[in-house]
Amino acid sequence: MKITAAITGVAAYVPEYVLNNEELEQSVDTTNEWIVTRCGVSERRILKDKDKASAFMAAEAATKLLVKKNISPLDIELIIVATVTPDYQYPATANIVADMIGAKNAWGFDLQAACSSFLSAVHTASKFIEAGTHKKVLVIGSDKMSSVVDYSCRKTSILFGDAAGAILLEPSTDETGIIDARLYADGSGAKQLYQPGGGSMMPASLDSVVNKQHFIHMDGQSVFKFAVVKMADVAEEMMIRNNLTADDVAFLTPHQANKRIIEATANRMGVTMDKVMMNIHKYGNTTSATIPLCLAEWENQLKKGDNVILTTFGAGFTWGGIYVKWSY
Ligand code: UT7
Repeated sequence: MKITAAITGVAAYVPEYVLNNEELEQSVDTTNEWIVTRCGVSERRILKDKDKASAFMAAEAATKLLVKKNISPLDIELIIVATVTPDYQYPATANIVADMIGAKNAWGFDLQAACSSFLSAVHTASKFIEAGTHKKVLVIGSDKMSSVVDYSCRKTSILFGDAAGAILLEPSTDETGIIDARLYADGSGAKQLYQPGGGSMMPASLDSVVNKQHFIHMDGQSVFKFAVVKMADVAEEMMIRNNLTADDVAFLTPHQANKRIIEATANRMGVTMDKVMMNIHKYGNTTSATIPLCLAEWENQLKKGDNVILTTFGAGFTWGGIYVKWSY
């Protein structure tokens, strides 16, 4: 009997502090109207506590999920944390999260594919379940984007926020779960959206700090042009590969980078906006957390057997889609 990896639970965490467009208007040359029209963001959450970072948010989401599912952390075998803002260069944030939540029997690692980290982690995790070697895997997307955003830059400060979302993957034999996945990468676009400093190419130095090399650098327009095409392409590809019509699709769960990119994807798929999970207005782009954050918010509307298409686009460039038949 074929084993699929089923999503059997989801939970999310967002920090309390709300950074709204009016506050950003005070620090950079922008307007609420420009931000809402060009990106669809009204506010984002910021983790203000200097002693807390991505592992904290990941652990909050994971604990909420385990409590909801009434599962002991000791039963978790593997934790994959999708993040571009790990607490440290090493050790892996996943190890810190395991310790925070008491997952003493788990091993874990971080996975970084920019905004596509979460879907890349889900695809990876599903293989451990399908192989039959693991029965309970936590995949957590967590990013403290405020730690790498230059709040004097109007091009990026308007977009990003902090959050975490977690899903539990377990084996299923009822033909629900992760049915198909297709991930892509094109490294020739590396410098159109990247953080130049802090890696082996440009280790931290006085100069790198003074020149703001440890922040996100983005050529927004070229990223937008690529994203709008590639996210729609892969969404359409997932439908064609799986013989799905727009009517068959219950929900589209897209990475929340820009409202206009999401609308273009829905449009290409032929699905109406009432089937699109979109909360970018409340949280902005939370990088690895956007998709689980949507799933958590829409969890009550999802039904067993629903066809859900998850799509992503991010730095790299990276993009991809996952087709899930919802399991509960
Ligand atoms: O998740 C990872 C992937 N990331 C993305 O997918 C982000 C993709 N890019 C975008 O979403 C959009 O490119 C942005 C939202 C970043 C920018 O929107 P845009 O429509 O591409 O704006 P633009 O960069 O073409 O700028 C248009 C104008 C420019 O003024 P001029 O040259 O026409 O006079 C900018 O200087 O808007 C100006 N501008 C702003 N004005 C007010 C740029 N940023 C702002 C701002 N407030 N924050």
